[in-house]
Amino acid sequence: MSRIAYVNGRYLPFRDAKVHVEDRGYQFADGVYEVCEVRGGKLIDQRRHLQRLVRSLGELRIRMPMPLAALGIVMREVVSRNRIGYGLVYVQVTRGVARRDHAFPTPEVAPSLVVTARSLNQSRNEALAAKGIAVVSVPDNRWGRVDIKTIGLLPNVLARQAAIERGARDAWFVDKDGRVTEGASTNAWIATPDGKVVTRAPDQAILQGITRSVLFEAIKAQGLAVEERPFTLKEAYAAREAFVTAATQIVLPVVRIDGHMIGDGKPGPIASALRRAFHRYAEAG
Ligand code: PDD
Repeated sequence: MSRIAYVNGRYLPFRDAKVHVEDRGYQFADGVYEVCEVRGGKLIDQRRHLQRLVRSLGELRIRMPMPLAALGIVMREVVSRNRIGYGLVYVQVTRGVARRDHAFPTPEVAPSLVVTARSLNQSRNEALAAKGIAVVSVPDNRWGRVDIKTIGLLPNVLARQAAIERGARDAWFVDKDGRVTEGASTNAWIATPDGKVVTRAPDQAILQGITRSVLFEAIKAQGLAVEERPFTLKEAYAAREAFVTAATQIVLPVVRIDGHMIGDGKPGPIASALRRAFHRYAEAG
């Protein structure tokens, strides 16, 4: 079965799913995106992801390509046309197509909208979570507004590639004060030796992950103490546990950071329990 993508008003087979060479997403990374988990054919936390999309668009003064409710229906339709049981749905909105000029087009052009979906291998993801992952640290050389979920991801791409070349799975960005900001496509967490869960507060130096927000409810329900504050790499090396969160990975235990073994080198009980509990707090629709 050919994959189907939604491109500017039409559902198309992948081979015909194309955008213009002068789309500002292609030329300038002038656009934003969202990724939602699909589980049991349902979209997880779609409402919150769409809220964040609206915020990202607003920060960049890009128009909504269609009313929110209609976009929700398109996402659902793409999931259903591609028969996704477990996987992800991807939404990208750019400022549209115009002759290449850095300033916003005048007159304004219609924003471009692309929605795709694909299956993920659930047993492979579960096996990864059961084993835990290694991460390496890299300097955070991104721009000052990574709270906006833009498609400008070159530092993230290079960080992930550096991780893979160093035998790890994810990279943790570290700011100039030696404090971890977040992963290349995840939020970063530790559990301290006395069992407190720590993650950076949602300032402009991290993306405020939807998984991160929902996980706070799970953490509170489990009676765990949580602190929203920056932590250093040194603190992370000495942590009892570490993990990352993102829409398609939920809670993924980290067992090694820059070659330092975390805890006993196996996924810890806090990360594992939070992973199991997560979907009780997420919305499925
Ligand atoms: N990434 N931080 C960054 C830099 C991210 O790219 C992501 C998500 C997150 C976690 O956000 P959420 O919990 O809302 O997925 C944090 C997506 C999945 C991606 O780029 O594929």
